[in-house]
Amino acid sequence: MTQTISRTQDLIAKETKYDSGVYNKHSIVLERGLGAKVWDTEGREYIDCVVGISVANLGHSHPEIVKAIQDQAAKLMVCPQTYPNDQRAEFYNELMSVVPQHLTRVFPCNSGAEAMEAALKFARVATGREKFVAMKRGFSGRTMGALSLTYEPKYREPFGGLIHETSFVAFNDLEQLEAAIDDQTAAVIIEPVQGEGGVRPATPEFLRAARALCSKHGALLIFDEIQSGFCRTGKWWGHQHACEPDCTSTCVFPGGCAVKPDIMTLAKAIGSGIPLGAMVMTAEVADKMPKGGHGTTFGGNPLAMAAGVATIRYMKKHDMAAQCAELGAYFVEQLSKIESKKIKEIL
Ligand SMILES: Cc1ncc(COP(=O)(O)O)c(C=O)c1O
Repeated sequence: MTQTISRTQDLIAKETKYDSGVYNKHSIVLERGLGAKVWDTEGREYIDCVVGISVANLGHSHPEIVKAIQDQAAKLMVCPQTYPNDQRAEFYNELMSVVPQHLTRVFPCNSGAEAMEAALKFARVATGREKFVAMKRGFSGRTMGALSLTYEPKYREPFGGLIHETSFVAFNDLEQLEAAIDDQTAAVIIEPVQGEGGVRPATPEFLRAARALCSKHGALLIFDEIQSGFCRTGKWWGHQHACEPDCTSTCVFPGGCAVKPDIMTLAKAIGSGIPLGAMVMTAEVADKMPKGGHGTTFGGNPLAMAAGVATIRYMKKHDMAAQCAELGAYFVEQLSKIESKKIKEIL
């Protein structure tokens, strides 16, 4: 008797046959998404709490983003950075309107790990130093450089000697931070809210101490806002929660902020699903990189730039930071009313 296999089983078999095998796969096939929902090949509907691993902050296939991508795909998809491009120009200006005002330069790339790689190269060349300080339970990506700053031994140990000499300090531990930073430190890397490490926010005191210690020792402060950025925490950037109380939200970092980073790395939600990363930095850092010192074929391509422009404009226009803050507070309030052993902690 011949057994018929379903379309779902067929697709899973086809994918797993040639897959690298590095991921544990679920046994459903997702084929469509809209807003907060996704659908599988059996027509089942799910609320997507994973959001593409913190990517679909505006929901799946948001019509305004889809239109921007469709229009740009028909116009121009690739344009090396040696040629200025209209979408790249727009993207830089939109991005600069939402990042701290002292960060005036951007290197566009294609992912979070690439943004981290760029940050590490710029930090090395800007300081002439090679040592880094990163956080226990921190996650910076899987490429060899970014991996050197990723704490979990299971991610690092199979790959032997890594690229950077990194000291790991306990997150939010001021004493350990002070002991780890010295005059050989190129940069300190902090996720303002640790993502993979368990959704753990840095304390304002810790971020302020990191800034002060970096300034004292001539090291750079890098905020990895790849997961905590783009309105996800109720502010544009996770580290804004450590802003001085008189810092107004209508003006992103009006100056006098005690936690100014030298570099910020961005990715995930920045392109609403199109691969896009960016590393923003001060002019002092950017100016130390020699011409041709870094580069990327796809980074800054018009298609991704158009997705980035549409995403930032939408977030600005609809004040997504305020929306997230409001919905987040509602969510916490409602969760707090549920008595269940399954709820361990509400942040
Ligand atoms: C905080 C943080 N940094 C860096 C990365 C690496 O980003 P990507 O997977 O786009 O390379 C991630 C990915 O999860 C992340 O959460």
